[in-house]
Amino acid sequence: TTAPIHAVVNLDLPGPTISRHVYGHFAEHLGRCIYDGFWVGEDSTVPNVGGIRADVVEALRAIAIPNLRWPGGCFADEYHWKDGIGPREQRPRMVNTHWGNVEENNHFGTHEFMALCELLGADPYVNGNVGSGTVREMSEWVEYLTRDGDSPMAALRKANGRDRPWRVPFWGIGNEAWGCGGNMRAEAYADLARRYATFVRDHDGNQVYRIAAGANTDDYAWTETLMKTLNCLGCSRQPKGPFQALSLHYYTHNGEGAKRGTATRFTTDDYYLTMLRARHIEELVRGHAAVMDCYDPHRAIGLVVDEWGTWWDVEEGTNPGFLHQQNTMRDALVAAVHFDVFHRFAGRVVMANIAQTVNVLQAMLLTDERTGALVRTPTYHVFAMNTGHHDARALTVHLRGDLPRVDVEGAELSVLSASASTKDDSALVSLTNLHATQAQTVVLDLRGREFTGHEAHLLTARSLTDHNSAENPDGVVPTPHTGVRTHARGLEVDLPPHAYVTVRLRLTAI
Ligand code: AHR
Repeated sequence: TTAPIHAVVNLDLPGPTISRHVYGHFAEHLGRCIYDGFWVGEDSTVPNVGGIRADVVEALRAIAIPNLRWPGGCFADEYHWKDGIGPREQRPRMVNTHWGNVEENNHFGTHEFMALCELLGADPYVNGNVGSGTVREMSEWVEYLTRDGDSPMAALRKANGRDRPWRVPFWGIGNEAWGCGGNMRAEAYADLARRYATFVRDHDGNQVYRIAAGANTDDYAWTETLMKTLNCLGCSRQPKGPFQALSLHYYTHNGEGAKRGTATRFTTDDYYLTMLRARHIEELVRGHAAVMDCYDPHRAIGLVVDEWGTWWDVEEGTNPGFLHQQNTMRDALVAAVHFDVFHRFAGRVVMANIAQTVNVLQAMLLTDERTGALVRTPTYHVFAMNTGHHDARALTVHLRGDLPRVDVEGAELSVLSASASTKDDSALVSLTNLHATQAQTVVLDLRGREFTGHEAHLLTARSLTDHNSAENPDGVVPTPHTGVRTHARGLEVDLPPHAYVTVRLRLTAI
């Protein structure tokens, strides 16, 4: 163990609210995410509610899933929603050219997605098609979903069995317009975003938060072009412009193309490289937020990190287009450090969606193809440990002391990460030790309010490559953490190597 680090938290100085929507999810028609993940069909032997897997719903409700983005991703820009309504057997089939070149039978469409969101208690985030769809098509989809009373699309919805309109609070104006969404230049897309968003109407009290397709990684020029086009220097907190937010996509991996590294067989050096890249999210969010600040000093426009997470080589023997990967303790730590950043930038980051919920990329849940068993991944448990941060006010954590660092290919990786929040009469502190082999003690220097008790949880594993599987579903799970002691300044917390710890404090009423 090295010298203790002090984490100073002013419990009486709450900052901006951490939207629960930063704990959002993403489900694309890709591999086994929708089909086999969420959707098994009504005739399946897997217990289901109207075709939707009951155990998947239960697991996601348990982590208070706030929203779900659908139908893509790249798939969104070739999806034509009218193919996915009406009697299932009569729906046209298509080929999912982006993902695996497999047949898409459109059995999971608008009604199935909205039923899923209702079962989950999650807000729908529908991503419209700009790349190969028309303005009319997008406009009619919004009308179909949200218009009450008499209109052609409301009548069509009713004819398909749904009388009342749904509520759709979030709408994406295309996806990755710089790439699979149409290979556009920023200027060309910015104009299209204004145009398409104009026809995403607020019907009958359904207020839509429109999210323009934003930058890839460090493409600050893309963000700048979108911000310029909004011309919102004088925007108040409720922007009236054509779109209210823009997105950012950033994936963590150790290489490019089909050589991004394997999910479960990696060395300590590979692990540190991953962590360096995961922590890069901080520089990206800071950079995009700084560009946005220049054009929108009141922070009326939201930054939505609607695709993030690890991207590894696919599991052996699976379709390369299905992006199916295992999920280890390393993935859990990637998630933990991302959340610290989203908490720190709560004033600008209004939503984030990990890619993707079931069976694809950094999934919460894996379903076993053979037995149908459901497995919660280590990443799932980070989401579970963090529900106390949902809609809580961010607290700044100042780390003081000789912060431990590891050299990674000539760059310095700081191996401690922390964030905190407060809600009602409690506070939640998140502490991550990324060091592969060294434990660390952290003194929580708690100021401004008294606390009357605490509970702590620990997520770690014997090896960083440990993961959960159908044979061993609880290999990596959180446990109550006993390594917490009172200290003159607050609490002293032991962090084992490669570990994530949360400490919940009960505060005296103010
Ligand atoms: O999440 C997988 C893919 O990654 C999405 O479809 C696309 O938007 C991104 O490139």
